[in-house]
Amino acid sequence: MTTLHEELSGLQPVELDAGLVFGGKASGTLVQGYADATSLTPPIDPHFRFPEASRDVIVWFISPDEPLYMFGPTGCGKSSCIRQLAARLKYPVFEVTGHGRLEFADLVGHLSLKEGNMTYEYGPLALAMRYGGLLLFNEIDLIAPEVAAGLHGVLDGSPLCISENGGELVPPHPLFRFAATANTNGGGDETGLYQGTQRQNLAFADRFLLCEMGYPDAAVEEELLRERFPALPQQLCRIMVDYANEIRRQFMGEHSDSAPAHAIEVTFSTRSLLRWADLTVRYQPLARHGIQPVTYALDRALAFRAGRETRAMLHELAQRMFPHAGESSARPADDGPLSGDEAIQFLTGNLTGVSANACPTVLLRKTRNGEEGNPGKDWRGEARPDGMHLRFGRTGTVGQYRHIPADACCRKDPVLELRQRAARKLREGYVLVREENIR
Ligand SMILES: Nc1ncnc2c1ncn2[C@@H]1O[C@H](COP(=O)(O)OP(=O)(O)OP(=O)(O)O)[C@@H](O)[C@H]1O
Ligand SMILES: [Mg+2]
Repeated sequence: MTTLHEELSGLQPVELDAGLVFGGKASGTLVQGYADATSLTPPIDPHFRFPEASRDVIVWFISPDEPLYMFGPTGCGKSSCIRQLAARLKYPVFEVTGHGRLEFADLVGHLSLKEGNMTYEYGPLALAMRYGGLLLFNEIDLIAPEVAAGLHGVLDGSPLCISENGGELVPPHPLFRFAATANTNGGGDETGLYQGTQRQNLAFADRFLLCEMGYPDAAVEEELLRERFPALPQQLCRIMVDYANEIRRQFMGEHSDSAPAHAIEVTFSTRSLLRWADLTVRYQPLARHGIQPVTYALDRALAFRAGRETRAMLHELAQRMFPHAGESSARPADDGPLSGDEAIQFLTGNLTGVSANACPTVLLRKTRNGEEGNPGKDWRGEARPDGMHLRFGRTGTVGQYRHIPADACCRKDPVLELRQRAARKLREGYVLVREENIR
């Protein structure tokens, strides 16, 4: 088995075209990266939408003269943005999360007993410096000033001296990168929201190139929801994003026509918005019992964290913005074919929490000119434990067959893959004819 050290020693630095790597179009500007990914290279998230702030990070990757400090509100995508850019360059990423009790040795390494011998175990900072990795230091504004001061030399580009390992000197590899993320800009927390953050020593803060990031634009967040949760109707995604932005405005003390001014103590991050959408899909079956999935999910994604008054206000706003959220999406299958958003909601409700062992099957049909009784195309998807089995083609013919192995399915879940693919087809004008083995 290859050890981490062997894997990292084999890294091959390459010069890549920055335009090609980040935008798909050659630009002639070169950026350094690696030929192959390692086990520490983050996987590429195809749904990730690069926000405007990624421009600053790309420029920094091209000429990283100084370490990077990215700050912004919680859950806006700071860590993910750096991780996803590093993934495109195939950097091994060493992640550390700052906290009040973090010690310098947690970064550099320590002596440990292995098979009766004392050996030195390198920490993330030493490994990243030695092999040319990216040290992603999250929540750096939570670390104690003395730990921060210990990093000054490294931030200036000096070698790391490991006194505990006989004074070993680790010079920085030319591809070593240091990026930090934090909720404050290092000047302390003015809002009182980020408990434990420390006002950074000016000499520490002064060593970084700064970059600010906010929540993604409404259009980007809407696209994110639509892509990640195709079972959610488009209109619902749009209102959810509008709702999140309304809450953000209220949190900032602004008010609009649609809601009165009210100082609230919680806000929507992109993280909690995605959680809300995910839970809304998962709670669809509750609609059959008269429970609104959207508001039920809202409580669990955000509102339970708020005080009683704010929670009441969040619900009141939700009732106004989602007037049809309580309508049941469930309908007996023998009521005739379902189409569009109604069919998507029905499938979502019935395929949530279903195991692939139950082999749920969905049959969709698209009639020629949309007329019933006029043979057209069939699409039959079946989720099984080994993956998704697809058959498609003209109605009445054997059609073509495709197998999507479980490993290649969305979140390795054949039922989720079936739900998402069926939802896409329903958007293309297919109707739901029959579904078998689904609750
Ligand atoms: N532009 C985006 N595209 C896709 N997903 C996003 C985007 N922005 C944020 N997310 C998602 O939102 C979640 C939160 O992102 P992340 O953890 O990177 O936020 P953060 O700003 O580092 O938060 P914190 O300050 O709490 O560490 C992740 O699941 C991430 O995938
Ligand atoms: Mg983070």
